[in-house]
Amino acid sequence: MSALEAARSLFTGLTGREPDGVWSAPGRVNLIGEHTDYNEGFVLPFAIPHRTFAAAALRDDDRVRVASTFAEEPVEVDLAQLDALFPTPVGSAPSVPEWSAYALGVAWALRAAAPGATARGVDIAIASDVPVGAGLSSSAAIEGAVASALDELWSTRLDPVALAQIGRRAENEAVGAPTGIMDQMSSMLGRADAATFIDCRTLATESVPTGFTAEGLEVLVIDTQVKHSHSTGGYRERREACERGAALLGIRSLRDATEADLPRAAALMDDVTFRRVRHVVTENQRVLDTVRALAERGPRAIGDLLVASHASMRDDFEISVAELDLAVETALAQGAVGARMTGGGFGGAAIALVARDDVERMSDAVTRAFADAGYAAPHVFTVHPSEGPRRDA
Ligand code: GLA
Repeated sequence: MSALEAARSLFTGLTGREPDGVWSAPGRVNLIGEHTDYNEGFVLPFAIPHRTFAAAALRDDDRVRVASTFAEEPVEVDLAQLDALFPTPVGSAPSVPEWSAYALGVAWALRAAAPGATARGVDIAIASDVPVGAGLSSSAAIEGAVASALDELWSTRLDPVALAQIGRRAENEAVGAPTGIMDQMSSMLGRADAATFIDCRTLATESVPTGFTAEGLEVLVIDTQVKHSHSTGGYRERREACERGAALLGIRSLRDATEADLPRAAALMDDVTFRRVRHVVTENQRVLDTVRALAERGPRAIGDLLVASHASMRDDFEISVAELDLAVETALAQGAVGARMTGGGFGGAAIALVARDDVERMSDAVTRAFADAGYAAPHVFTVHPSEGPRRDA
C-alpha cells in the first residue's frame, strides 16, 4: 500500500468517513551547507521524492485528533488546550507523545500566526515513506503536510515561507529540537530538478538547477541506519559553541565572519570552539562556491567541495560517525564525483554524486564494506530533486 493510501485508510478507519483531502510534503537531502542555517548562513538542499501524507477533515466540534501509522493510539486535544501545551519548556519533553507534537505544534503555531482565521476541530491521519531518523527530515515532511492541510482547511492562505516558519516553530517550541529553518524551507520550496539556495538570514531563496539528469548523474543516499535525534545532546552543544564563537568575535552570528577572520578567531577562543567556528565559516563559503560551480561548470565540478565539506564536519565540527566516514570513503574509492554526510550528523545518511551507470556497483561496494566492517546493512537508494507540498486528493 502506498503512503497516500495508508494515510487515507487510517483516516477512514479512525473516523468512518472520507477525508476532505490528502496533502503531502517531501523530505530533503542537503547537497551542501551543514549547521550553517542557525548561524544565519547559506544552505543548498533539495526536496526528495519521499513524502509524508496527511489525510484530514474538519470536525463539527473543537477537538483536534491526530493519528499516525507509526503510533498505536491517536492523540486528541481541545483547540483551546494547545496554548496550554505549548511552548514546551526548554529542556523538557513535550507533554503529548513526541510524534504527535509535530502535528499539534503546527496547529498551535498556525493559529498563533493567523489569529484572524477561524480554526476548527480537525481529524488528521499521517503516513510517510520518508525514512525516520535517517537525516532526511521526516519531521519537516510531517510539518509541511500538516501545515498545508490546515492552511487550506482553516483558510489561512499563508505563503510557503510563512508555513516553513510555522513548521520550524513547531519543531523548536513544541517538540523542543533547537534546529534551524533549512529543512522546512527545503520541503516547502522544493522544485523538480533544482536545489534551493537559501539565505537563512533573510529567507530569500533561489532555485538552482542541478543539471544532474542532463549530466547522467544520480544522488545515492546511504542511510547508515545509525539513528540520531536533534532534541538531545550533540546538536544543541554544537549550536551553543557557534553562539559562543560569535559572541567572542563580537558579531551577531557566524554569518558575519569570513575566512579572513579565522586567525583572529584562533587567538580569541579555545581550540574546540575555534574549530566549530572554522567549520561554519568555511562551509558558508563552500555553499557559495557550489552555487557558482553549478552555474558555470556543471555538477561534475562540485565534487571537491562536497568532499571538503565532509572533512570539515568530520574533523572540525565532529558530527560524523565511523559508518558515515566509511560510506563516504567507499563511494569516493569507487569513483563517485563527490560524497559527504548530509543533515545534522551523529548518524543518519551520507550522499554520493555518482554516474548513473555506477549506481549498482557503488551500492554493492558500500554494502560489502559495511558487512566487512561488521556494521548493520545500510539502506542504499537514489533520489532526485523533487517538488514541494501538494494536494494529492
Ligand atoms: C538538522 C536541522 C537543520 C540543520 C541541519 C544541519 O537537519 O533540522 O536545521 O541545522 O541539521 O545542517
